[in-house]
Amino acid sequence: MTTLLSGGAASAPTPGGSSETILVRGGRPLIGNVTVTGAKNLATKAMVASLLGDTPSTLRDVPEISDAQVVRSLLEVHGVRVTDGAEPGSLILDPSAAVSAHMEEIDAHAGASRIPILFCGPLLHLLGEAFIPDLGGCRIGDRPINFHLDALREFGAVVEKLPSGIRLSAPEGLHGANIELPYPSVGATEQVLLTAVRARGVTELRGAAIEPEIMDLIAVLQKMGAIISYEPNRVIFIEGVDTLQGYDHRCIFDRNEAASWACAALATDGDIFVKGAKQQEMLTFLNVYRKVGGWFDVREDGIRFRRGGDLKPVTVETDVHPGFMTDWQQPLIVALTQAHGRSVVHETVYENRFGFTDALNKMGADIVVHHEGLEAEYRRVPRRELEQAAVISGPTALHGADVVVPDLRGGYSHLIAALTADGESTVRNVGILSRGYERLFTKLADLGADFDILD
Ligand code: EPU
Repeated sequence: MTTLLSGGAASAPTPGGSSETILVRGGRPLIGNVTVTGAKNLATKAMVASLLGDTPSTLRDVPEISDAQVVRSLLEVHGVRVTDGAEPGSLILDPSAAVSAHMEEIDAHAGASRIPILFCGPLLHLLGEAFIPDLGGCRIGDRPINFHLDALREFGAVVEKLPSGIRLSAPEGLHGANIELPYPSVGATEQVLLTAVRARGVTELRGAAIEPEIMDLIAVLQKMGAIISYEPNRVIFIEGVDTLQGYDHRCIFDRNEAASWACAALATDGDIFVKGAKQQEMLTFLNVYRKVGGWFDVREDGIRFRRGGDLKPVTVETDVHPGFMTDWQQPLIVALTQAHGRSVVHETVYENRFGFTDALNKMGADIVVHHEGLEAEYRRVPRRELEQAAVISGPTALHGADVVVPDLRGGYSHLIAALTADGESTVRNVGILSRGYERLFTKLADLGADFDILD
């Protein structure tokens, strides 16, 4: 499996290489077709779920991203045999020889990923112990793991903090639990699912996240033999079973990547057909897209996106599903710099997810970040302590600049801003984008983007 950014416009880097800096000549609309495959935020979790099976699993449409490669390495460190399947983009994961790994080995393979935390439940069932190094992930807030550790304790795990990370053990095995999450955390919900399916007895989870990727993980687990039901108001019941089998599953499409390309079409005044995008999982995004002046056409095999006229200002609030995803606001904000009027984006999921707007201002945008948030009458959810708001005034002509990618989604927005801007931009640290955007340079080149890979 190739993993890092590959392809390119003028110069084609070796697939698997990690290009860090690109020179972008902006001002050209992105026009053409791109294909999105499996969701990063499902594929990586489904790979971890394979640890729970007594037989090998087959995962299809695994995206060629470095986060998937990290999980593959972590599984291999734990003795799981991972091979490429016959179908392109498929993996076969055989956990029959799974073993405990050392903290240093896990740390060395985890890179910037937060996925090791999700190995806990499966490893506790399989081996009776698990180690987690200090976790990385995008620098978009504190990103604590207290919900995860509290839940694991409820299942009967003993949590021991060590200088290099955390050791968990389950001397008595794990049992079902009644768990209420203080916030519908995606990761903590996955933690509970991956742990409860083989715990003794029934687990009741309240305050669960219900993102489509979580529903797809539930489908994976059900294929393995798990018994999971969900009720209104974010309640999930899991009846623990003694054994699970391997699965054969095709990943749900990556709606974050699809939304990213949709916003790129808006920002650059382009026209992009996103093959593989589906309407159902993007309803909230599509409503905002229409309000901002975007046009879309839902087809059997994907969705076509472009402007429907002048762009209009909008007010949006990020939220857990079915709300407007926090991962959608960064590319949308680039498009909002071209809208006629003042837009407001309230970020309610992470406390530090507007850092990327500094670079957009450097390119000529007018974005003011209110670190304490902004009052608003129309709020659907209670205001959280960590909330921030960005006010975007437009339209502003963007010009080229030298910018450094801070994180995955912020970085993509830098790239799209550079493609929207007149003149040349140098975008540094683009290697991060390989965490979640597969074959990015090839796709950009196919859409007519004008750029050179510098190193
Ligand atoms: N939180 C806690 N304690 C915890 C866990 C979470 O306070 O133990 C807080 C977080 O600090 C944050 C909020 O809860 O303020 C939501 O975090 P959540 O656990 O839902 O996020 P996550 O599981 O770490 C996943 C995605 C993110 C995506 C969020 C929200 C993966 C690998 N990551 O993160 O994706 O933004 O859900 O949908 O699935 C990305 O793709 O770029 C990305 C960051």
